[in-house]
Amino acid sequence: MIIRIALLPGDGIGPEVTEQARLCLAYLAERRELNVLFEAHDFGGIAIDRHGTPLPEATLAACRAADGILMGAVGGRDWDDAPVRPEAGLLGLRSALGLFANLRPARVIAGLEHLSPIKAELVRGADILIVRELTGGAYFGDKQLDGDRASDGFVYTRPEIERVAHIAFAAARRRAKRLTLVDKANVLATSRLWRRVVGEIASGYPEVAVDYVYVDAAAMALITNPRRFDVILTENLFGDILSDELAVIPGSIGLLASASTGTGKAALFEPIHGSAPEIASMDVANPAGAIASAAMLLDHVGQSELAFLLRAALDDVLCSGVLTADLGGGASCSEFGAAVRTRIDARLCRVDAVRSLVGVNRGMTA
Ligand code: NAD
Ligand code: IPM
Ligand code: MN
Repeated sequence: MIIRIALLPGDGIGPEVTEQARLCLAYLAERRELNVLFEAHDFGGIAIDRHGTPLPEATLAACRAADGILMGAVGGRDWDDAPVRPEAGLLGLRSALGLFANLRPARVIAGLEHLSPIKAELVRGADILIVRELTGGAYFGDKQLDGDRASDGFVYTRPEIERVAHIAFAAARRRAKRLTLVDKANVLATSRLWRRVVGEIASGYPEVAVDYVYVDAAAMALITNPRRFDVILTENLFGDILSDELAVIPGSIGLLASASTGTGKAALFEPIHGSAPEIASMDVANPAGAIASAAMLLDHVGQSELAFLLRAALDDVLCSGVLTADLGGGASCSEFGAAVRTRIDARLCRVDAVRSLVGVNRGMTA
């Protein structure tokens, strides 16, 4: 079996963090004799420079054919005034592949509470999954900019809400069985529809406790009482904003990963951060979010054991105090990635030792 991974390094720090994630995947593949094929494609600003569009046809075709897509980040000042911005390529990719559900997990590792700027007693044990609707709402509504008047259509339909709500409920069922719909139902008609539809779907998941919080109050509660949340289900724009806020809980946006899935087999894995142009090409970016995104990709392609191992190795490194500058450490991006591979090696050796021990015992009793 060949696992085909489309790599979209993109712009700014995208290439350097993606490279560390790729090296971790390649290392795991080699050690476990998995056939993984990486194919890099132009995407974002670099694709504008080379092809005049942020999402070239060849890139889209490769993404459709891949078992998983690993993306870095797009955007940067060079293209801020381009007629089509790099970010439009990302929105185009999400939309073309029907990636309507964006999963953004964040967890505070026991013992690493001090990495958060929030008080340790508040963040201890926090473990939250934001399920962000990704192909609707203000991002994709009809846009008008006419002189001094501008508008962004903010539209949701029942099927768009239903499909992402089912994903969020299914996730809640596997987790702490709590789901919070975050909306603005005191003002927005779309939010009132979300409440109605989610309320109906909830009856199919009796084991999941549902509550409803307005987005302004949720933004505060996320910081003051993060443990009150398990799964947060929300629309596109609120999810974008709240997920950057979510990153403050473990301590840095460089830590957060995401998976976007949808109607077809295509799935996109990317850290939630952007291209951070001010630290690009300095080998100081935190690649943890990209590496954790690679772990989500492994889950998607049915390699859950390796996904578990990669996440465990990542946690080991963070717990050992090897940290990049965003978390107050002195490790470079490449040093951090190398440290993860060292821990992968240690964990693989331990797994192999246990297996051979079990094998020997079996042999003895057979
Ligand atoms: P950003 O996420 O790039 O940066 C926000 C802050 O976080 C900056 O201080 C940056 O240095 C820091 N940061 C981000 N990732 C980091 C990492 N891995 N390690 C250490 N520090 C990190 O957001 P921004 O500055 O608002 O946007 C920059 C560009 O990226 C813009 O063009 C924006 O549109 C784009 N962007 C792209 C994506 C994406 O490709 N998915 C996401 C967000 C923003
Ligand atoms: C994200 C980013 C994107 C978004 C931008 C770059 C279009 O902020 O992935 O969170 O707003 O969805
Ligand atoms: Mn964002």
